[in-house]
Amino acid sequence: MSDPQPVYLSDYQPPAYQVTHTELTFDLDPTATRVKARLTVERHASAEQTTPLVLNGEHLTLHALAINGQALAEADYQLTDETLTIPSVPAAFTLESEVEISPSSNTALEGLYQSNGMYCTQCEAEGFRRITYYPDRPDVMATFKVTVIGDAQREPVLLANGNPVDQGTLESGRHFVTWEDPHPKPCYLFALVAGDLTKVEDHFTTMSGRNVTLQLWVEQENLDKTDHAMASLKRAMTWDEETYGREYDLDLFMIVAVNDFNMGAMENKGLNIFNSAAVLTHPNTATDAAFQNVESIVAHEYFHNWSGNRVTCRDWFQLSLKEGFTVFRDQCFSADINSAPVKRIQDVSFFRTAQFAEDAGPTAHPVRPDHYIEITNFYTLTIYEKGAEVVRMLRNLLGWEAFRRGSDLYFERFDGQAVTIEDFVGCMAEVSGIDLSQFMRWYSQAGTPEIDAHGEYDYANAEYHLTLRQRTPATPGQPDKQPLHIPVRMGLVGTKSGQDLTLTLEGEKLGKDAVIHLTDDEQTFIFTDVAEAPVPSLLRDFSAPVKLHFPYSREDLAFLLTHDSDGFNRWDAGQRLALLALDDLIAAHRNGVEKVMDSRVVEAFRTLLTSSMDDKAVLAEMLTLPSEAYIAEQQPIVDVDAIHAAREFVRQSLAQALRDEFIAVYKENGTDEAYAPTPEQIAQRSLKNIALSYLMSIEDDESVALCEAQFAADHNMTDVRHALTLLVHSDRDDLANPALKAFGEKWAHDPLVMDQWFTIQVSRPQPDVLERVKYLMQHPAFSIKNPNKVRALVGAFAQNRVNFHRLDGKGYALLADVVIELNRLNPEIAARLITPLTRWQRFDEARQQLMRAELERIKQEPLSSNVFEVVEKALA
Ligand code: ARG
Ligand code: ZN
Repeated sequence: MSDPQPVYLSDYQPPAYQVTHTELTFDLDPTATRVKARLTVERHASAEQTTPLVLNGEHLTLHALAINGQALAEADYQLTDETLTIPSVPAAFTLESEVEISPSSNTALEGLYQSNGMYCTQCEAEGFRRITYYPDRPDVMATFKVTVIGDAQREPVLLANGNPVDQGTLESGRHFVTWEDPHPKPCYLFALVAGDLTKVEDHFTTMSGRNVTLQLWVEQENLDKTDHAMASLKRAMTWDEETYGREYDLDLFMIVAVNDFNMGAMENKGLNIFNSAAVLTHPNTATDAAFQNVESIVAHEYFHNWSGNRVTCRDWFQLSLKEGFTVFRDQCFSADINSAPVKRIQDVSFFRTAQFAEDAGPTAHPVRPDHYIEITNFYTLTIYEKGAEVVRMLRNLLGWEAFRRGSDLYFERFDGQAVTIEDFVGCMAEVSGIDLSQFMRWYSQAGTPEIDAHGEYDYANAEYHLTLRQRTPATPGQPDKQPLHIPVRMGLVGTKSGQDLTLTLEGEKLGKDAVIHLTDDEQTFIFTDVAEAPVPSLLRDFSAPVKLHFPYSREDLAFLLTHDSDGFNRWDAGQRLALLALDDLIAAHRNGVEKVMDSRVVEAFRTLLTSSMDDKAVLAEMLTLPSEAYIAEQQPIVDVDAIHAAREFVRQSLAQALRDEFIAVYKENGTDEAYAPTPEQIAQRSLKNIALSYLMSIEDDESVALCEAQFAADHNMTDVRHALTLLVHSDRDDLANPALKAFGEKWAHDPLVMDQWFTIQVSRPQPDVLERVKYLMQHPAFSIKNPNKVRALVGAFAQNRVNFHRLDGKGYALLADVVIELNRLNPEIAARLITPLTRWQRFDEARQQLMRAELERIKQEPLSSNVFEVVEKALA
């Protein structure tokens, strides 16, 4: 077998044949579903008469094929494992086909599959070709009419996109429903659901006064977990009307929860399908973080109705056109309805840990890749989150008002079309008159730009000279990088006044907070009339997705921590201060020298804990130390043990020095109110729980008693899970074991809670974790076929830095074993699971060898194209 080959953006050709209307009939059966398709096809005016019709199709058994009602003989077409080619077709015709597929044996969860006995689909990006022969590409857009036939007992509910237009009963206990979607769409937005489901229903009146029926379909036992998703949906619909002027365009909007799902959710037209973890919540089963996650994913999928469905992507290289824009939209939505600074802090903190690592590794790729082997490998942090940062920079460059005009123009001009990133950025340039040609490099250049900054205060002339130098490291296939257009939002904070000083640049007064534009390799900005020595506050609100280096002293950072007017940079100053202290401690650990805690960090924390900061949510973030993964990102060679030891030392030192303050914060922020996922309550819980974490790092009697009491009170999942995690991660198995057992028995019936039970155990720092993972993989609640379970157990284990990176290599071997098994069952999940092994270059020589050996072992297998692509890049 030859190696899978990449496709290239530069090879794009418009489709020679368009499908304008698609009629499908599904006769459902677990092992032998029949799919009849009737496609209305037209040759494009510019295509040659002799152009063959090439359709995609995989894992299909063809039973019949006809053009304009005439059956085709076997000699009239050619079949391969991936295509159906008809060499000669008329300029306009109907193509009828009938194929057979087996949903119950579809473990890849792409195309039509069964989850808990219920039928559902996932077609993005290229799953529709597992349903019928079709030009499976997003620039082929058709109206759809779909009839679903099922067993009236087993599948009382039969759903597809659009509006139901017909239904009836058939012979031998079967029934059918016919659906019509009037909006032309690419086949990746097709969806079908059939099973024994129950719904909750609500209504939304759109801004033009139309009534939309909202339905959330779940299994009976989950009916009490739908309120929050429904409320989130209505808030998202209102927000998109008010913020972007976008109204919903069908009479019915449905969301379905399924247990087996590769990703979070999917924006199929009028019929969003969700991983149950991304939609179901209840105070007793879901944490605050889960509630917020559901809110943002419900919004994200809803927002796709415009940014993705009405205006879609021309080809999959343009994926970030819809994903980057939609993530930006959902981030703004969450910021608007919760705490904006906290949302930004959490997003950036995740971004700088995970996306920066991706950008620095062997799978680094631009926001718009120029080639890929397997598109499902490109649903990445770069396409989604970096794409969102790029759109955010556009918003900041244009200002909201012009950005909104650009967005209006984009939706108006390209409604009903499949377009490119140039089309989107072109609208922004057109409405603003800003030249965005250099800015376009953000889409084509991979890697994280680094800015080396330094500044000097000239007392005599009252000037501040700020020099910024940019460089982007080489990434695979891109040895040389061009300078980017980087907007740097900044202020100068006066060291005497503690206030932002007015910025005057080349005679122009810019105000106290301004954006300067770094466009060359190196630029010096001279600020005049600077009356006192300042500390610069750079890259406020993380105005560009870059690494900024500035030689701040610890005194500078302590000063910014209390004086910066930008909440994000106040938090970031704290992170930088903690990182400097952690650096010293990591070095001390490596050199076997006694560790000494930096008193400046202790004092900074004391100030935070005793100041009456009104934003408790921000305070909780400021009290959170950089994660081991983020600390690792800062190290040239990652020393997992030294990082863990240093961070534990800081936690314990802070807890010992500030024990009374933490106890006071803990007690002040307890509440007996009924649980609600409101920003106020969430902030209180985060603050209380971060205090409890510090206290439990010393494990004294009072702290342990508080933790046990919080677990026993069983007030809500946020508090219970946090207390359980601290008990399980403590060094006291007499605390850990009974709590784990009680929790596991109480929730044995609830798969989403059992996911949490798995994750908590395999995230503990104690060395028994590897054996525990193996043991839990045999647990009745675990299944390798369920992606949530794989993520909760195996994925979480690979994030457990000290245990995954054991020096005997058994952590790596375990992951490789699971990848090899999943490669056959679910290639998309298998390929994703490899990620931690692809980062081998970051570790010491011994670990590098062990990690590479596992990658080599995977490579010996007959691989799916998904796993092949990742392993190939990782070993290149
Ligand atoms: N478009 C979906 C979303 O971001 C994700 C689809 C992912 N599909 C896949 N095969 N990975 O909302
Ligand atoms: Zn999306």
